[in-house]
Amino acid sequence: MDNSRLETNLAGIQMASPVMTASGTFGYGEEFEGFVDLSLLGGVMVKGTTLLPRRGNDGARMAETPAGMLNSIGLENPGVEYFLSDILPRIKKYRMNVIVNISGSSVSEYGELAKRLDVDGVAAIELNVSCPNVKDGGIIFGTDEKSAAAVVREAKRNTHKPVVLKLSPNVTDIVAIAKAVEAAGADALSLINTLMGMAIDIKTWRPVLGNVTGGLSGPCVKPVALRMVWQVANAVGIPVIGMGGIETAEDAIEFFLAGASAVAIGTANFRDPAATMKIIRGIDDYLKKRNLSNIKELVGKMKIE
Ligand SMILES: Cc1cc2nc3c(=O)[nH]c(=O)nc-3n(C[C@H](O)[C@H](O)[C@H](O)COP(=O)(O)O)c2cc1C
Repeated sequence: MDNSRLETNLAGIQMASPVMTASGTFGYGEEFEGFVDLSLLGGVMVKGTTLLPRRGNDGARMAETPAGMLNSIGLENPGVEYFLSDILPRIKKYRMNVIVNISGSSVSEYGELAKRLDVDGVAAIELNVSCPNVKDGGIIFGTDEKSAAAVVREAKRNTHKPVVLKLSPNVTDIVAIAKAVEAAGADALSLINTLMGMAIDIKTWRPVLGNVTGGLSGPCVKPVALRMVWQVANAVGIPVIGMGGIETAEDAIEFFLAGASAVAIGTANFRDPAATMKIIRGIDDYLKKRNLSNIKELVGKMKIE
């Protein structure tokens, strides 16, 4: 495949294609080696990483919903030191952009994580600000303009890598938060994270998920994600990575037209571990058929008269 139509550069990261994988849905990339040519991906946003290892939540962590799923994993991961000493050296060989998704329980923890990850083999840092801010009494960094901006500033102070802020859809005005984090120095934005949801077992009257609530993802969230990508891309000057329910090349093309410079595939990887490859080929076919020389010719080109 001639890749030139798909090649792009996002916030200084050179990408073989604008198709990435969403954090928490593709492990560290290596698990998919048998299904995917990892070097064709724009990047792999690896599993959410924290300063210390985390066991994650007890009880059921996943529930199927019509056209999607709920999850409440609780950020299970082996911690940043293990990632650096064991995982990163192993996955370097795949020639893929490794974007490390990080979560902290305080602003300074984000800074500490960014500093430790400022190493060879890490292409960028993605800040997951949808986790509880323990120090400030349970607010979520991503739902407050000032806290989200503070997290970005702290990360930027501690790393030379591009910093991507992942926006939460569980807010009233996503554009206000996007503008605040752009002003704080974010190099790119990714959206959306999961939408808060829940399910109840009517036989037992108990919540289906051990954590009661969880994050909704998959095709059911796509219209919401697309709307938010369009709103945010029109309001900021930094590139946007669109995600939320993308399963096909056609879905991805909608996100490009809405203003996303790249897309990330999440839940679809569970249904079809080779989904990203089909999406990449489908986008390339679409560009070829329309005589377009590069993906950039689609970005933000939705027509409204
Ligand atoms: C099982 C699972 C685990 C996830 N873990 C993370 C995570 O650790 N950090 C994060 O920022 N987003 C996490 N997400 C959110 C996804 O990266 C993505 O933003 C969301 O699922 C929407 O995309 P999708 O509908 O294509 O899955 C997770 C999603 C799922 C389904």
